[in-house]
Amino acid sequence: MESPRKFICGNWKMNGDITSVQTLLSDLRAAPQKGVDMCICPAFVHLSLTQSVLPEGFFLGAQDCSAQQNGAFTGDISASMLKDMGCSHVILGHSERRHYHAETDELIASKMAAAHDSGLVVILCVGETLTERETGQAEAIVSRQLKAALIPSVTATNTIIAYEPVWAIGTGKVASRQDVETMHATIRKTLDKYAGMRILYGGSVKPDNAAELMHAPNVDGALVGGASLKADQFLAIIEAAAV
Ligand code: PGA
Repeated sequence: MESPRKFICGNWKMNGDITSVQTLLSDLRAAPQKGVDMCICPAFVHLSLTQSVLPEGFFLGAQDCSAQQNGAFTGDISASMLKDMGCSHVILGHSERRHYHAETDELIASKMAAAHDSGLVVILCVGETLTERETGQAEAIVSRQLKAALIPSVTATNTIIAYEPVWAIGTGKVASRQDVETMHATIRKTLDKYAGMRILYGGSVKPDNAAELMHAPNVDGALVGGASLKADQFLAIIEAAAV
């Protein structure tokens, strides 16, 4: 099967204000319009602004959603609200949600069902901590997270997997190409029923390592945190994937 187009997604996390978001979006208009799918996931409060000036060729995504569709859930945002706002994608199961909000595999699976129900594409994050890697559990942890997420609504096109080793997120420590190849091959095997599902790598992706990582086998793109907040760096990563 032919490899899917690369998918480069910026996760802005809890960063930015109206002025910086406007500047960043304006600078991203220089993105290449060929051979690569691009997505931006700003904070909830910047979705509307981002949607109104979304640069050509970019999808709009959110960083989380509720497992509930509506009701008395103060502070939560539903998948249908995101869809209504113009989102096509939502990141779920990011390690920062798993860690700081104690999100379990079960909760993430229910959020996925809600997102699919609303017609959103889920970017599901999986990844091991440093201790889990050092104790030889990396593949078991990632397989557990992945299997728990393969709910009946999952298809090859409504779900994208992002392998993000927790120790590589925001640390500047990037996984070696060998580590990435090994883990992506394991994930691909687990996904054998879903031919063509994309598997992204995330964790300190920068312009100087993007080309090598993006062209490793079974790597279909990147989930980019810090470097997606700087237009020149994010554009360089997109360029590296588009080649
Ligand atoms: P990073 O974040 O690129 O800053 O390491 C990646 C992520 O958390 O998605």
